[in-house]
Amino acid sequence: MLFHKKDPEADFLRRAARFPANETEAYAAYLDELARTAEAARQDPLGLRVLAIADTHKDLAFRDTLSPFLEGIGAYDICLLLGDITQYDLDVILRCVPREKIAAVLGNHDEPDLLWANRLTDLHGKVREIAGVRIAGIEGSFRYKEGAYPMMTQYESLELARKMPQEADLLVTHDAAFNPSRGIHLAHRGLAGISYYLLRSRVGVHIHGHLHSEYRRQYPNGAQEISVYPFAYLEI
Ligand SMILES: [Fe+2]
Repeated sequence: MLFHKKDPEADFLRRAARFPANETEAYAAYLDELARTAEAARQDPLGLRVLAIADTHKDLAFRDTLSPFLEGIGAYDICLLLGDITQYDLDVILRCVPREKIAAVLGNHDEPDLLWANRLTDLHGKVREIAGVRIAGIEGSFRYKEGAYPMMTQYESLELARKMPQEADLLVTHDAAFNPSRGIHLAHRGLAGISYYLLRSRVGVHIHGHLHSEYRRQYPNGAQEISVYPFAYLEI
C-alpha cells in the first residue's frame, strides 16, 4: 500500500513535494485511489449553449475560419476561450464575439497579462457563476520547460485544486487531466490537479483544449470530457 490508510491525501502531498517533475507512477497510483472513492458526477444537463475556442496559435490572423463557423451555429450563452490564443487571434475573435460573453483560461504559450489587457473574464483558480452555471477554471499546462508562462508542476496543480471551491457544475481548463500514457512528451501528460478536481467535486462536464484533438470521453465517476480543437458549439 503506497499511502497511509488514515489520511491518504495528506500523506501523498508530503511525498509529492519531493517527487521530481517527471515522476508519474506515484501520481497515477494516487489518482487511481481517488477514482475508487470519487463521488458520482452530476448527470443532469446544465442547459448551457457554449461556443468554445482553443489553440488557435495565431492561425486566425492568417485566415479567419471563425466567421464561417459562427454562421453555421445557433445562438450561444457563453464563449469559452481555452488558451493558446494570441492577441492576433483575439483581435479577430473580438470582432465577432461580444466581449461580455467571453470567459477564459490562459494556455501555456500565453502572456500572463493577456486576459487582463483585453478586459476578459479570467476563470483561473476560482468558481464563477455565469448564466446560472458554476464554472471552475484552471489555466496552463504541466511545467515541461522553463519560462514565465502559465505552467505548473504536478504538485502545484494539486495544491491549487485543493484550495479551489469544490462546488461547481462545469470545469474549464487549458490542459487535460493527468494521463501518463498519453505519449512520451511531457507537455501532454496533463495535470494531476485537474484529475483531482474532477474526482473530488461533482462537476458533470469538463471542457479543455491543449491536445489539438477533438473528442468526447467519460471519466470513472461519469463526468464527461470534451476536448476542443479549434472550435466547438456545445449544448451541455
Ligand atoms: Fe497548450
